[in-house]
Amino acid sequence: MAATFPARLFWLFVGSMMVIGMLMLNISLASWKNLLSTIHYLPSGLSATSAIRKMEIEEMPEAERLMAIARNVQVAGVNCAAVLKGDKNQTTAALGMTQNVSIPLSNSFYINLTTDCANFQQQRGYIMSSLTKEEEQFPIAYSLIVYKDAEMVERLLRAIYRPHNVYCIHVDYKSPLEFFRTISAIANCFPNVFIASKRVDVTWGTFTVLEPELICMEELWRYRKWKYFINLTGQEFPLKTNYELVKILTVYNGSVDVTTTVKRANPRRWRNTVAPHGLKRVKGSVHIVVNREFVGYILLNDTAKQLLNWTNKTSIPDETYFAMLNANPQLGIKGTYKGIPEPSIKRPFIARFKNWGDLPCAETFVRNICILTTGEYFCNTLGD
Ligand SMILES: *[C@@H]1O[C@H](CO)[C@@H](O)[C@H](O)[C@H]1NC(C)=O
Ligand SMILES: *[C@@H]1O[C@H](CO)[C@@H](O)[C@H](O)[C@H]1NC(C)=O
Ligand SMILES: *[C@@H]1O[C@H](CO)[C@@H](O)[C@H](O)[C@H]1NC(C)=O
Ligand SMILES: *[C@@H]1O[C@H](CO)[C@@H](O)[C@H](O)[C@H]1NC(C)=O
Ligand SMILES: *[C@@H]1O[C@H](CO)[C@@H](O)[C@H](O)[C@H]1NC(C)=O
Ligand SMILES: *[C@@H]1O[C@H](CO)[C@@H](O)[C@H](O)[C@H]1NC(C)=O
Ligand SMILES: *[C@@H]1O[C@H](CO)[C@@H](O)[C@H](O)[C@H]1NC(C)=O
Ligand SMILES: *[C@@H]1O[C@H](CO)[C@@H](O)[C@H](O)[C@H]1NC(C)=O
Repeated sequence: MAATFPARLFWLFVGSMMVIGMLMLNISLASWKNLLSTIHYLPSGLSATSAIRKMEIEEMPEAERLMAIARNVQVAGVNCAAVLKGDKNQTTAALGMTQNVSIPLSNSFYINLTTDCANFQQQRGYIMSSLTKEEEQFPIAYSLIVYKDAEMVERLLRAIYRPHNVYCIHVDYKSPLEFFRTISAIANCFPNVFIASKRVDVTWGTFTVLEPELICMEELWRYRKWKYFINLTGQEFPLKTNYELVKILTVYNGSVDVTTTVKRANPRRWRNTVAPHGLKRVKGSVHIVVNREFVGYILLNDTAKQLLNWTNKTSIPDETYFAMLNANPQLGIKGTYKGIPEPSIKRPFIARFKNWGDLPCAETFVRNICILTTGEYFCNTLGD
């Protein structure tokens, strides 16, 4: 699962190619509070933004529409323009504000607020418009595999929410009932957000990591329009807007983005067994960005089912299954990788940004990943 190539190169790549992946941050609850409150949304307790409704803005020209959104998601007391220009003074002031962020919103807060969905959307500042034609015509399907921290999940959902996308949320079987009820109540406020009908007790290294993805894929499949599938956990946050994602995925042009490696794979995981149809065995990353046809192949094709049965008997199947489908072009799945299945400068890992120690870390490392805070967020977005 290590970063497939040094982060510095990564930024170089981003700068030069302008093909940028999803760039999800791995963040902890504490640092996430800091991160979000200064940058995108109001800290809990400050006065609410209003939801941006289609009615109000659909007649506006695109530029004006985007400005209307920008005004609605502004953070009082932060001069974002100055921060983005690298003004140290303003950045320090913005960071200072994060010291004041109140404790996370409780499950009961959400259960109460979602009794009136229109009010919930408004209070929390959901963007209830597709904003641009381009986005509307390029729906994205998401799976969110979550198990704790309702406010964190809700903020992630809000950041990626658009009325034309579709979201499947899998709540771990082990999660407390209150958490499940909260996430369900939030999902019930949107026609395009739903809870996976089956709940799995997810245990690292077992087939249960893969299962929720498959359940969500199957349930998302019924929505006919989406073009790409992205899987997320509740501990990530987007570095790109929906509009930027659509631009990026358009450049992907149907390509599947799942990293693959033979060199760094541990063959013992496969228990010396041969894969069905002699498929090349590779290891992949946990983050996947795949096209609709790829998901269709998983759901409908017997070869995919045989492969699934085989990976079920190996260890850490979730790192094998999607990767093998991507590394075997003879299967003829749209957008899969035809080159040597190793990461390289020409084929970097771009779906997520994680700092595995190649860059300085302002706060702490958790399971070898730097938990990003406002400090790094600014650096990273500014690229300095
Ligand atoms: C720096 O920010 C403080 C308030 O945060 C302000 O009083 C001061 O004038 C600013 N200095 C400069 C040089 O902008
Ligand atoms: C933090 O909150 C206190 C009390 O509400 C307020 O006086 C103070 O100005 C706030 N500090 C910042 C940096 O916003
Ligand atoms: C529930 O929400 C209403 C307003 O929508 C508020 O007046 C009330 O105090 C809330 N109750 C709890 C327990 O938070
Ligand atoms: C994406 O799906 C793969 C395969 O099931 C899984 O291993 C991984 O944990 C998922 N990633 C995220 C971020 O949920
Ligand atoms: C996009 O993919 C199609 C096939 O799916 C191909 O014909 C076309 O050349 C590709 N466009 C670019 C810019 O690579
Ligand atoms: C997969 O394995 C199950 C039993 O675990 C079996 O019932 C099923 O027929 C197998 N499917 C394929 C496609 O091999
Ligand atoms: C995976 O294996 C477990 C038991 O080892 C079995 O219960 C389950 O049906 C299998 N699933 C698939 C899709 O093969
Ligand atoms: C399943 O995939 C195999 C190999 O990719 C292909 O030959 C076959 O036609 C597919 N079957 C169906 C029903 O699409």
